[in-house]
Amino acid sequence: MTDSMPAIGMDENRLRHCRGVGMKASELGRTLFGWSDEKCRDMFVMGYLHDVGYQFAHEQSEHEELGGALLRSLGFTYWAEIFHHGNPDSTYRSEELLVLNLADMLTSKDGSATTIPARLADIASRYGVESTQYAAAQKLADVLVAQVREIGGSQDILSQLV
Ligand SMILES: [Fe+2]
Repeated sequence: MTDSMPAIGMDENRLRHCRGVGMKASELGRTLFGWSDEKCRDMFVMGYLHDVGYQFAHEQSEHEELGGALLRSLGFTYWAEIFHHGNPDSTYRSEELLVLNLADMLTSKDGSATTIPARLADIASRYGVESTQYAAAQKLADVLVAQVREIGGSQDILSQLV
């Protein structure tokens, strides 16, 4: 690498977060959509790789597109989900993107399972309620809850969201 500025990179917490998102994405594939074990394994890999762009990103806001573009170049099936994750204004829609965004919101920074209200409170404490990070997370949470209701998600899943 010849970049003069160091990239953000992936610290231990981020690695734990990625593993946790992978596990949650696999679980949600089964509980929300009834997907096969094979597809749920794919969802683990998608979640596990979703923040890989941080390794090369200099700004937090570029990690999604960087990671997505890298995985597209490698032929990864779910590159678009990674490219568009975390963006409440994205017009790209897929069931896999819903799974990824939900898994991301239901996994804390250190990889443990959480709920959306607790995740939002953590983002507020780290960045402040006036931050763009918090505003985007709040808006994304609203979009996700609406989408889960649309597909008739179970009360058990909804209880982790609101
Ligand atoms: Fe991310």
